[in-house]
Amino acid sequence: MLFIALEGIDGSGKGTQAKLLCSWLRDKGYSCYLTAEPTDNNIGRLIRKYLKEDNFDPRAIALLFAADRSLHIKDILSKLHSDNMVITERYFYSSLAYQGALGINIDWLEEINSFAPEADIVFYLDIEPEEAIKRMTSLSSFRNTREKESYEKEEFLRRVRQNYLKFAEEREKFNVIDASKSIREVQTDIRRRLGRILSFIEEEKKKGRQTRLEDLL
Ligand code: TYD
Repeated sequence: MLFIALEGIDGSGKGTQAKLLCSWLRDKGYSCYLTAEPTDNNIGRLIRKYLKEDNFDPRAIALLFAADRSLHIKDILSKLHSDNMVITERYFYSSLAYQGALGINIDWLEEINSFAPEADIVFYLDIEPEEAIKRMTSLSSFRNTREKESYEKEEFLRRVRQNYLKFAEEREKFNVIDASKSIREVQTDIRRRLGRILSFIEEEKKKGRQTRLEDLL
């Protein structure tokens, strides 16, 4: 089964797209487990508390994200082993992009996350920070009613986006999706790309062959 990560800056629509993708996979007969980082566990909750502060030490928070992820991975692997498709909203790529944008050395971030297996496929929802912030503050958005987290500032999100775009060039698992389009168009784009991979896997299965995703990505 596939381990899929959705990445992108705040306001890029990961949550909505992840839910739609999971329900599409279920309609196709797959079991789908939807999850997210930071998690709802104790460490994840602690992280959310610190995210409300402006000057929390970025190295300390990077370590907390890694600790949260270490627990999260156990959960992810057990779902994958019991034949679920797993979709996570954010994974260690978020740590590289966000804590990297705060000046933390990316090699060090990779090292403290080296226990985390790569996702099979990453959909990176690309959007201009200005547009993402507009979405987050729009009157119809539920986010309007909640406290703003310190990471949701335009200049900062610009640096985060630059990091993501760099990863997209360097990592073949990264699929860049234009997230400025409508919810429906973005979802169609993701489904089209994932659909190709699923058909490939099914074909290989029929032939009794081991799947080599690298051939497709
Ligand atoms: P997220 O759950 O996407 O935000 P929300 O619930 O508000 O939609 O993530 C919370 C914030 O945490 C987001 O600004 C990105 C940040 N983050 C990191 O900085 N590093 C990480 O490793 C992860 C997983 C998230």
